[in-house]
Amino acid sequence: MAGSWGLKKSLVVAAIVVATVASFLYPSRGCRFPAIYNFGDSNSDTGAASASFGRLPPPYGETFFAESLGLPLVNAYLDSIGSNFSHGANFAASGSTIQPVNAKIYGAGFSPFSFNVQLLQFEQLQDRTEELYTQAEISEITSKLPKPEDISQALYILDSGQNDLYYGLVTMTRKQVNESIPYIISQFALFIEELYQLGARAFWIHSTGPVGCLPYSVIYFPPKPENMDQNGCVKSHNEVATEFNRLLKQRVSQLRVELPDAVLTYVDIYSAKYSLISEANKHGFIDPLGYCCGHSGDYYVQCGKKAIVNGTEVVGNACSDPSVYISWDNVHYSHAANRWVAHQILDGSLSDPPISLAQACHKPVNS
Ligand SMILES: *[C@@H]1O[C@H](CO)[C@@H](O)[C@H](O)[C@H]1NC(C)=O
Ligand SMILES: *[C@@H]1O[C@H](CO)[C@@H](O)[C@H](O)[C@H]1NC(C)=O
Ligand SMILES: *[C@@H]1O[C@H](CO)[C@@H](O)[C@H](O)[C@H]1NC(C)=O
Repeated sequence: MAGSWGLKKSLVVAAIVVATVASFLYPSRGCRFPAIYNFGDSNSDTGAASASFGRLPPPYGETFFAESLGLPLVNAYLDSIGSNFSHGANFAASGSTIQPVNAKIYGAGFSPFSFNVQLLQFEQLQDRTEELYTQAEISEITSKLPKPEDISQALYILDSGQNDLYYGLVTMTRKQVNESIPYIISQFALFIEELYQLGARAFWIHSTGPVGCLPYSVIYFPPKPENMDQNGCVKSHNEVATEFNRLLKQRVSQLRVELPDAVLTYVDIYSAKYSLISEANKHGFIDPLGYCCGHSGDYYVQCGKKAIVNGTEVVGNACSDPSVYISWDNVHYSHAANRWVAHQILDGSLSDPPISLAQACHKPVNS
């Protein structure tokens, strides 16, 4: 049933990877990306699901936009009220998959805005923008739109996979999930090829995270001892994520050959997140499998929701200090954790090839 997996619940707080990334774009002497286009799921949704299916209740968003930024924040493309796309747009939508959504995937509670739809939205934005720029006396409109020539200079960020894997994990056998991965990767590659045909060149591609360490996995798929790693995470879920990332990285390197003018950077988000889980205390976080908002155990209330327990109303409140939790609501990372992850990946030390975000428009010279 929709929403029961908690995956449709967009988390604006978790969108900070995009936001933090933006803050490093401008005053650097690197690529000076004029715009960012982001594609993905709730890990970087800054308003698509909220604009489409209903606003998220507080406390979602309570620590939103605490960053100081050089580039303006990238608005959600679907957010039609007051948005300004002069520096790009965010197409990421909570609960979305890389593979085209079908009745079964939608029925399992995932979003209609899969990557193929996000691509259509991107095309619409570009087509309409080009038309408007050819018409005179509409500068009050074009000042909110990206410049057509920016399309090939922009940074394209892709962050997805988690929902494709969860869809598999909740509906298929372990073996079937594994067997579904090559298809998901082929859809990912198709998406990059199509963006490239539309003019995109600089791609910053996030691997998927250790899904087995999300409190959601640990709560709903409590691992037997042999399926638990040293951090208490669900080993089989992490193995699926690792297999996905292995094939993703391989496919990205093939794409470098197929798309000669593309600069494709594969970013190992998995390792960043797994180190954070493994060394939570060292980095200022408490129980790495705990979470700040909502409640599960003797009763269950989703973050921001209410429930009646034994005749008494209980509310899925936030904890008093979200910054000490890695997980915000048992699926999404907290602002503090996303910020930590963003800082790990910006300098390129977790990238293949090892170039920083600010240089991600240049092919490595000494290859
Ligand atoms: C949109 O944002 C750009 C960059 O911040 C700004 O120059 C422009 O005036 C804004 N347009 C509108 C209509 O607010
Ligand atoms: C998953 O598939 C890969 C090949 O794509 C294979 O090497 C691996 O052994 C499989 N793992 C499981 C658990 O089926
Ligand atoms: C609800 O009431 C039952 C019976 O009194 C009790 O066993 C249970 O612990 C209560 N649940 C909660 C969440 O308080």
